[in-house]
Amino acid sequence: MGNGERTRSVSSSTEAVHAAESGGHWGHSLTVPIAQTSTYVFENMASVDNFVMGKESRIDYGRYGNPTQHIAEAKIAELEGAESALLFASGMSAITTAILGMLSSGHHAVIMDDCYRKTAQFCNMVLRKFNIDTTFVHAGDYAGLEAAIEENTRVIIAESPTNPHLNVMDLDKLVIIAKSHRVKVIIDSTFATPYNQRPLEFGVDLVIHSATKYLGGHNDLIAGAIAGPTPLVAAIQDYRGILGGVVDPHCAYLLIRGMKTFPIRMERQNETAMALASFLEGNPKVREVYYPGLERHPHHAVAKEQMSGYGGVVSFDLDTDLQGTIRFIDALRIPCIGASLGGVESIVSHPSTISYYELAREDRLAIGIADELVRYAVGIEDKEDLVADVGQALEEI
Ligand SMILES: Cc1ncc(COP(=O)(O)O)c(C=O)c1O
Repeated sequence: MGNGERTRSVSSSTEAVHAAESGGHWGHSLTVPIAQTSTYVFENMASVDNFVMGKESRIDYGRYGNPTQHIAEAKIAELEGAESALLFASGMSAITTAILGMLSSGHHAVIMDDCYRKTAQFCNMVLRKFNIDTTFVHAGDYAGLEAAIEENTRVIIAESPTNPHLNVMDLDKLVIIAKSHRVKVIIDSTFATPYNQRPLEFGVDLVIHSATKYLGGHNDLIAGAIAGPTPLVAAIQDYRGILGGVVDPHCAYLLIRGMKTFPIRMERQNETAMALASFLEGNPKVREVYYPGLERHPHHAVAKEQMSGYGGVVSFDLDTDLQGTIRFIDALRIPCIGASLGGVESIVSHPSTISYYELAREDRLAIGIADELVRYAVGIEDKEDLVADVGQALEEI
């Protein structure tokens, strides 16, 4: 998959296991220890002076950094092919801190209409309060995107692939438009991961992850990350120190552990999701399947060109009604029912009730969230078991 030169340089398992860990083993520990401390001590006042004068680079307080976190950040930077990376207390903390760091009152942002709904709410509820307007554009409408850019536009915020319809942005097109207007591009690459796509190599300015998902990979932590060029990341780091959304040391440790197996998990999740999507595509009880690995997906060609795998999430509309969809989900024996994705356990979600319950049915339908839509995030269970399980649950419709 992926013919372009860039798509071959995805993160490898060797990188994932060893990256950022060559600086020595503290106390001869093989694994990175958890520096469980809130604050850091100075030997004497001369040391304080050196630090204050910028002669000594060190951490003074846990809101500004932690040694375990720094290794996790360096690993993410290597995986993304970035100069620098930063970790946050959640994916939303990464998104909100980055955007607040990049925009000022009077600026304008363009955002894709199928971005993560909390990112959209942040634009509508928070940015607006500070006189920062956003224009929502349909993902894939590049003429509309260009037309939405105004004199005061500073960023374009996009996701690829998106949730739950797995739309894929053409990163080349996006970057050409942005650069011609001197606007920065932020890509939330949570669903792709650096195993499947490295947006910085396309000229994207900043990559964001909900590390809660595939990077952590075990459904046991909440964290967010940004990766990009050092000057931009350093500017956002100052905002993190003020806004305070720093990741805790234990979470950083779990993330390092999770990232070591991330490429092999991703390889398997790509393969299983493809098998599940192909199975569903031919099933008469399924009205539509959304998976960029399928030729029927409107963005398959772009995905094939810029991704090395299509990800672990498959969404589909069942050929039934709400009650039939509920019977299908309840009949599944392997996946848990829940809101997240990207971990070793498969999770099935019913977007119209689990994620979009605040919207009226007509508003949900307007953005393609039908009552019969199911989002299936595959874990690392055997693909034959998952496909057979979906097969038997379809019988319940
Ligand atoms: C694409 C995407 N971005 C960001 C987030 C937010 O991440 P978190 O839940 O870690 O704050 C999510 C969460 O589901 C997501 O799916």
